[in-house]
Amino acid sequence: MEYTEKTVKLKNGKTCFLRRGEEADAAMLVDYLKATAGETPYLMREPEEVQLTAEEEWDLIREKNSEERTLNLLAFVDGEHAGNCAFNPVSERSRARHRCTVSIALYRKFWGMGIGTALLGEILDMAKSAGYEQAELEVVSANRPAAALYRKFGFETTGTMPRVMKYGDGTYADFLFMVKTL
Ligand SMILES: CC(C)(COP(=O)(O)OP(=O)(O)OC[C@H]1O[C@@H](n2cnc3c(N)ncnc32)[C@H](O)[C@@H]1OP(=O)(O)O)[C@@H](O)C(=O)NCCC(=O)NCCS
Repeated sequence: MEYTEKTVKLKNGKTCFLRRGEEADAAMLVDYLKATAGETPYLMREPEEVQLTAEEEWDLIREKNSEERTLNLLAFVDGEHAGNCAFNPVSERSRARHRCTVSIALYRKFWGMGIGTALLGEILDMAKSAGYEQAELEVVSANRPAAALYRKFGFETTGTMPRVMKYGDGTYADFLFMVKTL
């Protein structure tokens, strides 16, 4: 869907610029997927599992931007790409059209500055204006910063799923299911 770019003041006084991802961002976004996958244990992919090419990402961005029910917002601080937040439909089936999933990840160097708050607030407003009634996500139970961010916006934990991820050292991570009425 369309998005009118915006600037937001962060708690450290810096300005955060928000805009929709465009086709020309494709190579940058593939690098972002690989880097963020390596910077946190809380995302589903290992960096080497990001196999998407810039050309494939270009096509995906074009397809998503033509749809009314999805949005990928990018945040920039001092001209540097800090991270993304998106909503997508759970399903196009009529009985699930009121539900969207929300996702967010920032480069590690930008954590804790309020960018997650700026991005998520904006993406929830946009999801509501796109007609969704419910936002949903899954978060690793040990991911306290993310769960705190979601709770700050009114997400509630509705359930858990054990051993959703298994790491190279043999340990597991559980998921919390979180839901917010828009
Ligand atoms: C989760 C993430 C998006 C949060 O974004 P952020 O910009 O760092 O968060 P903010 O600075 O806006 O902080 C939002 C709230 O989160 C909480 N929070 C932030 N950092 C925290 C920390 N280290 N410990 C506990 N709570 C924390 C606070 O409640 C904070 O609210 P406050 O500023 O009003 O006190 C970011 O840390 C990130 O990208 N992490 C890696 C990827 C990831 O885990 N994505 C989520 C997958 S489900």
